[in-house]
Amino acid sequence: MLKSEPVSSVESGPEQRVRPVGIVGLGSYLPEQVLTNQDLEKMVETSDEWIRTRTGIRERRILPPDLATSDMALEAGRRALADAGVTPDQVDCIIVATVTPDTPFPSAACRVQDRLGCKRAAAFDINAACPGFLYAVTVGSQMVASGLYETVLVIGAETLSRVTDYQDRNTCVLFGDGAGAAVLRPVGKGRGLLSSVLGSDGSGADLLYQAAGGSRLPASAETLAKRQHYLYMNGSEVFKFAVRIMEEASLEALARANLTAEDVDFFVPHQANIRIIDSARRRLGVDMDRVVVTLDLLGNTSSSSIPLALDQAVRAGRIKDGDVVVAVAFGAGLTWAACVLRWGR
Ligand code: ACO
Repeated sequence: MLKSEPVSSVESGPEQRVRPVGIVGLGSYLPEQVLTNQDLEKMVETSDEWIRTRTGIRERRILPPDLATSDMALEAGRRALADAGVTPDQVDCIIVATVTPDTPFPSAACRVQDRLGCKRAAAFDINAACPGFLYAVTVGSQMVASGLYETVLVIGAETLSRVTDYQDRNTCVLFGDGAGAAVLRPVGKGRGLLSSVLGSDGSGADLLYQAAGGSRLPASAETLAKRQHYLYMNGSEVFKFAVRIMEEASLEALARANLTAEDVDFFVPHQANIRIIDSARRRLGVDMDRVVVTLDLLGNTSSSSIPLALDQAVRAGRIKDGDVVVAVAFGAGLTWAACVLRWGR
């Protein structure tokens, strides 16, 4: 397991060893096309009632065929820069978290770099599945905290509809498309990213994966016929892991920031299943009115789910200056991540 050191501490604690870094702008992009539970009833043997009660999802967004992940990442990134009051030439680095890049290479981040006009920026993708955005925030924050860079644009962007098998009712009801972005910059003392916990357990790699299209099993007529280019998931095993790790990672990140669950103003969990979210927030003792939920309307958008939820909660005026925000996610790998932020510049 790999754990990052706390970036800074709010209380006296160890003196801030490096400069504080926070999110100074947010942006998101959602495709217009909506796929409802009623639509899915016509595609597989399922029901609106089953999907709502077992997952909490009512509808999700689907990207049209002529667009790809970097198109959504670009728009989310553009909106985040505008929100932060940052121009493209000020961006030092772009990190896109995705498991569904336009092409295996080059990275989606390079396509965003070109089209955003971030001429000075380094660019690369991170593949850490659903916690990818929190991995990107942690990596990007370290770059700014160390003084290497001033401005890092981090984006979570996914077109999960392209790897979802719409003949498999176990998975096709869960996923949606979208992108969310954040601008990382130095902030005032006590603000920004207070702590970060990253983890992995590769022994669970086969619980959630895409079999074909990589070096192990290159795409072929046979893999296509066997539908191996679509994602496979052992839902119940992932469920058990998720419930445990959401609590553990959140508590560890809070402890690293010298905080407890009682200090949490907003809990922003990965949006996979309302039962997982509800179980995690109960274990932590966080009231439902302090939980940000988007999955009823967006489904599971993997690495986009946390930035989309953050953007929505900030725009709605729920998350405000000075609030303690805990964001936590789990996903394929297996991977997990939790970040504690004190909101504001
Ligand atoms: N409609 C109707 N019935 C269904 C459907 C559906 N869409 N999907 C499954 N079922 C059936 C199953 O076939 C099974 O039937 P059986 O008992 O006759 O075999 C029955 O419902 C129960 O199946 P379970 O898998 O036990 O259902 P469960 O309550 O566990 O819910 C679910 C399944 C929603 C997938 C749940 O396990 C889950 O959310 N797991 C976590 C998934 C997750 O978070 N993944 C994402 C992590 S990483 C990322 O975001 C990419």
